[in-house]
Amino acid sequence: MSPRYAHITGWGMAVPEQILTNDDMAKFVDTNDEWIVSRTGIRERRIANSDQSTASLATEAAQRALEVASLHPADLDMIILSTSTPEYIFPATACIVQDQIGAVKAGAFDLLAACTGFVYAINLATQAIKSNGATNALVIGSETLSRFVNWKDRDTCILFGDGAGAFVLQASDEPGGVLSSVLRSDGSGGDLLSIPGGGSHNPSSMQSLYDGLHYIQMNGREVFRFATRVMAEATRETVEAANLTMDDINLLIPHQANQRIIEAAARGLNYPMEQVMVNLDRYGNTSTASIPIAAVEALDQGRLKPGDHTVLVAFGAGLTWGANLIEWTGPLPPSKRKVSPRVYRRFARLRSILARLRRRIEGFIWGNG
Ligand code: ACO
Repeated sequence: MSPRYAHITGWGMAVPEQILTNDDMAKFVDTNDEWIVSRTGIRERRIANSDQSTASLATEAAQRALEVASLHPADLDMIILSTSTPEYIFPATACIVQDQIGAVKAGAFDLLAACTGFVYAINLATQAIKSNGATNALVIGSETLSRFVNWKDRDTCILFGDGAGAFVLQASDEPGGVLSSVLRSDGSGGDLLSIPGGGSHNPSSMQSLYDGLHYIQMNGREVFRFATRVMAEATRETVEAANLTMDDINLLIPHQANQRIIEAAARGLNYPMEQVMVNLDRYGNTSTASIPIAAVEALDQGRLKPGDHTVLVAFGAGLTWGANLIEWTGPLPPSKRKVSPRVYRRFARLRSILARLRRRIEGFIWGNG
């Protein structure tokens, strides 16, 4: 059997319309625009409204990615949704998206590696494609961190924003696509960045709510030190694994957490900042969604083109870190079949309603046990 390669053939993003600027934040928490911009580079972030959620943003981004790839949702084999702010503990948010877009033949599951999740998910989908386990995969990073920050805690609330991004990966025997990946973790630093409440260790209770254990808690300085060390290291390792050098990399797309962390990584790699994609000034840290959102904007701005080499590199809670090196492809030649994921979504909704109805009728006829 000839080798298979995993190409990125579709991409999409979705961010809430509602903008929260640093000046807006200064009205309810003791901070100011000058401090936030100088320490982080962030000027504003997007905040989901009450109708939006991790699943709805993910669905929008997924649909756009399928449109770019001209891929019918029913042709998807696998949906991996990376998030730290899922719709529920279970069912997986990926299954909600699967139902919404009508990916009737896809397995769907969530992946939790915090801000590194998208990089982990790209590698997982790539391995599935290369080993013949999947032909078409959808990888989504989606977050509504605004639902998990303590809006009275100035150490954390200024950092985060909401949004989603998605890539379609497809098998091809043409060389290219995802060339190498590096995934790492160090659980000894788990307490540096966590949401300690609501899991099996600290189940939700009046006390856990009173203690604020359901909010993001972070040791900013330690996370900063860790991040500046691993971003350059992971980039270098993944470039070496593909037998390339930094001179071959056209664009670096880092996790958008902090301008100073990104600049330190570029310095550590001796790599020009002009070739580093940065958009955190407008979105803040959207965790696992930050890389695909930055990639979509880089494509829109013509900074990433077919044939280019790009490195996606991230760090996050866990602790986790990692990188992917990608030879950018773009959409595969279109098939003859006309594809319209947006129209199909209406059928998917109808199908979902009918499936629920069928279960009710069956329950009524056969009894519930
Ligand atoms: N506004 C004004 N002052 C503030 C604010 C604020 N929002 N937050 C903290 N300060 C004050 C502090 O109280 C402190 O005052 P003091 O010197 O009187 O004690 C001073 O500013 C300096 O605080 P530091 O914490 O030392 O500031 P630092 O330069 O380290 O910047 C920051 C803090 C921005 C959080 C930085 O440490 C950082 O970016 N860390 C990495 C965080 C990160 O990337 N997290 C996401 C990881 S990805 C994931 O998995 C979700």
